[in-house]
Amino acid sequence: MSLADLIKPHIRSLAPYQPGKPMEELEREMGIRSSIKLASNENPLGPSPLAVEAMRNAASEIHRYPDGASFALRAKLSKRLGVAGNQLVFGCGGDEILELIAKTLIGPGDEVVYGWPSFAMYPIVVQGFGANSVQVPLTDGFEHDLDAMLAAITDRTRVVMVCNPNNPTGMSFGASEFELFAAALPDDVVLVVDEAYFEFVRRPDFPDVLSLIAKRPGTLVLRTFSKIYGLAGMRIGYGICDAELASYLERARHPFNVNRMAEVAALAALDDAEHVARTLEVNAAGVEYLTVELGRLGVKTWPTDTNYILAHTGSGIFEELLETGVIVRPMTGFGLTEYVRISIGLPEENERLIKTLSIILESRGADS
Ligand SMILES: Cc1ncc(COP(=O)(O)O)c(C=O)c1O
Repeated sequence: MSLADLIKPHIRSLAPYQPGKPMEELEREMGIRSSIKLASNENPLGPSPLAVEAMRNAASEIHRYPDGASFALRAKLSKRLGVAGNQLVFGCGGDEILELIAKTLIGPGDEVVYGWPSFAMYPIVVQGFGANSVQVPLTDGFEHDLDAMLAAITDRTRVVMVCNPNNPTGMSFGASEFELFAAALPDDVVLVVDEAYFEFVRRPDFPDVLSLIAKRPGTLVLRTFSKIYGLAGMRIGYGICDAELASYLERARHPFNVNRMAEVAALAALDDAEHVARTLEVNAAGVEYLTVELGRLGVKTWPTDTNYILAHTGSGIFEELLETGVIVRPMTGFGLTEYVRISIGLPEENERLIKTLSIILESRGADS
């Protein structure tokens, strides 16, 4: 018997998440310097300065276990969101909230319905617990096909996940569409709305999913401190749901899943209105700039409510950009070989991307 025979078949056959290489490693391999990373939807301004200061002050306390109940953070966030403290569940990133949902709700034979392409962790988490993914293709315009998602629900469906705005496409759907969708969902299916990019949304009719929780207890909203607050490296996210659902997720949670520094950082970041405002400003300007400039290069983009933009650049562009030290996210894993996802950077980073891309596209034009 080999070691592989001992492994659960659904784990053995899992295709692991493909993280981007660390910039230092890439630079060493490619013999380049001063590369820029526009690949992971991180905050180009860096972390909230208030969070950094708070972590510095807290560093001498890390011999203590974290507050497993996240008391201070729970109190602040519940007040901010207008929900009870026991409606919040904290995790080691939003990723862990997805895993807690899966651990609590799904097993072999169960189905989880979600749109595709979407967040790359969904299939991993679903398969990780032995359940089956039912991936419902986005429309030709890369929007969620909510009717098709409803039609994909069977007796075996336990969870439906919608990523709004969607990663990697950037587009969102509005309240009227969402209300029809939610009203048509069977009660015995848990609805997870992944709002990792919520704070970047600009459309005025974005769905207020929190208000649905009281009417539909099997609903969870996922949010994160990784994006707007610039704390991706600290790993802290949270779910907002009905208190009873939260109590089950709490049973599945490790007591110290959120580390002490992450709690302190998140608490401080919530008060850093200036950092949030600057982030939104830089992002909105970057979206505008990239939309216009990519359009000028003949590269089609899609409207985005996030801190990244989907671009139809043609195939091989990811590799050519990489050679010059400009790192974007290829969409090949989704079968979208001619597309890349570009995270919005600082103005000089966005300009470097456009300049490099225009040289690449021009030389291709000259070759053909
Ligand atoms: C759509 C979506 N959901 C959830 C997450 C998880 O974020 P984190 O685990 O960093 O909180 C991400 C991160 O990129 C994301 O893009």
